[in-house]
Amino acid sequence: MKRKTNGAARKKAAKTAVETVSGTQATGPVQGTATCGEENGVFERRLARHYDELKWLYCELYHNDMGAFEYFVSMLRRSWEARKEDLRAQDARREADPDWYRSRDILGMMLYANAFAGTLKGAEEKLPYLRECGVNYVHLMPLLQSPKGRSDGGYAVADFRTVQPELGTMEDFEHLADACRRDGMCVCLDFVMNHTSEDHDWARRARAGEPGYRDRYFFYDNWDIPREFEKTIPEVFPTTAPGSFTWLSDCNQAVMTNFYPYQWDLNYANPVVFNDMTENLLYLANRGVDVVRLDAVPYIWKQLGTNCRNLPQVHTLVRMIRMACEIVCPSVLLLGEVVMEPAKVVPYFGTPEKPECHMLYNVTTMATTWNTLATQDVSLLRHQMDAVCALPHDFVFLNYLRCHDDIGWGLDYGYLGWCSGASEVPHKKYLNDWFTGKWPGSNSRGELYNDDPRLGDARLCGTTASLCGVEAAVYENDSAKLEQAVACDLMLHAWMFSQSGIPVLYSGDEIGQLNDYSYHDDPDKREDSRYIHRGDFQWDLAELRHDPKTRQGMQFAGLRRLEELRAAEPCFDARADVWTEDSGSNHVLAVCRRYEGRELICLFNFSSNFVHAGAARDGAYTDIVYGTRYDSIRDIELYPHSFAWLLRE
Ligand code: GLC
Repeated sequence: MKRKTNGAARKKAAKTAVETVSGTQATGPVQGTATCGEENGVFERRLARHYDELKWLYCELYHNDMGAFEYFVSMLRRSWEARKEDLRAQDARREADPDWYRSRDILGMMLYANAFAGTLKGAEEKLPYLRECGVNYVHLMPLLQSPKGRSDGGYAVADFRTVQPELGTMEDFEHLADACRRDGMCVCLDFVMNHTSEDHDWARRARAGEPGYRDRYFFYDNWDIPREFEKTIPEVFPTTAPGSFTWLSDCNQAVMTNFYPYQWDLNYANPVVFNDMTENLLYLANRGVDVVRLDAVPYIWKQLGTNCRNLPQVHTLVRMIRMACEIVCPSVLLLGEVVMEPAKVVPYFGTPEKPECHMLYNVTTMATTWNTLATQDVSLLRHQMDAVCALPHDFVFLNYLRCHDDIGWGLDYGYLGWCSGASEVPHKKYLNDWFTGKWPGSNSRGELYNDDPRLGDARLCGTTASLCGVEAAVYENDSAKLEQAVACDLMLHAWMFSQSGIPVLYSGDEIGQLNDYSYHDDPDKREDSRYIHRGDFQWDLAELRHDPKTRQGMQFAGLRRLEELRAAEPCFDARADVWTEDSGSNHVLAVCRRYEGRELICLFNFSSNFVHAGAARDGAYTDIVYGTRYDSIRDIELYPHSFAWLLRE
């Protein structure tokens, strides 16, 4: 779909072309900038490194629109000029140490500033708590301006440069980011690039028919083309927002809305959109964001007759964003949100010569972990782990158990069918029955999400603790059950920490926070069960974290111990060789990590019973968590839902 650069951008490009060096001369001397020659040299050097590739990709995608390209380069320069000293110093440090984010002592946490501390200022005051949790990477959930009741949890951005007034101001954000930087804590922020809110200035102008704005989205006079698109685009929210287009009766137009009707898909075939959105990203980077989470990135290129996901042009765009960051703010990392099967995720790392994202979510391992808890059979998880272990060591995955979104059952059904005879729809039904506590023997308390009876494709929501049975045990006042549930929760975390990459906790999980059902009473939220695990952080319960007799105390201390062991033990290094082994039981996953002559065997019992399992080798091992020494680990007894980290002597 070919779109022309609009007039406004051309004018802007012409204006900035005189202020800045044009694309073709970009490596030459620079005039008209406020910064000193030596510093400019830094920008020039970085631009020169990427210039040919950038121009090639840009011109290929945008039909040799040199005006747009020159504008893009001038925008990069402007963004770099606006970057403050402190951030430039950080750029230099991290450029000199490109592996800085591969360290095994990085521990992440994701949180909503309002749920955690009311406001951004409040969150800054709570930084000591995060430090106490060992967190040095904080993902602040969407905090930019977003209309109330039409925000999709902040994922419908009305202004990329304004903070939601209830949370504070952009100055507050910058202050918080500065404080985090002083503390050695990275800040991650979402960049919702696939769409804007219908309240965004561009959307309002497009709606009003102002020239040059409808081209930023996908507008149609009638349903002919939208219907064609809908034949091949799968629905994102089949129950809560079916279809991929929304009819705007005030202006008699259909607009593409793959997510909610108030989230209008941006048209990246228009270079103005790419230029302005990249400028927004760099604006946020200049406020002190270390990690940019590219939200819903596989969706950003649309083409009739396709599923509009993961198209080759998406990779061109991500590669260009990566180069833009390497030129302007090389200390900034890109985290791709690709919630898909591994074969679709891995290409977003790009190649060693042409990297795209620095980090990606280990989403299939997450979903397979929950599958394993319900089936108590580790075959699929082992198979998934083998696939991850076969990838190059320098791919950095973000490992997590829960996040703000639902758990989608994107499992390898081919393998599952082959090894257990299970087929997709009944298996999903089983998982959902298990995790909603309907299945006999299950103590899980989750809720379905976007239950699509036509496809039998419901997803699932709930906090880690509630899914592990803590909620049921507390409700039933059953201490034995509670102990088991907390053990299960810790075992899952130990499993997450045993994987290479960056572990990210979901705020509240460190004290075993339960589901929050209050969203049922909120008309803006009640249709979206993801709010069940987005409840306010319970500071009163967090107070109990130092009391070892409370479940919060056991949970908190248990996690801290695992995190500290992980940071201290070289076997957890990202460069370690990692593989799975036959533990002798299909209930127990055995993972071996070897690094610099040390060997750690990790065993995870996914069954609710005592199980005998081990690793086929001789020699003495010590459990680094409990200190137990084993002369042989060929056959050891594991408690229900327990784990062992066994270090070879
Ligand atoms: C991402 C977010 C999700 C949001 C969607 C639309 O998948 O994680 O919460 O609904 O993007 O922006």
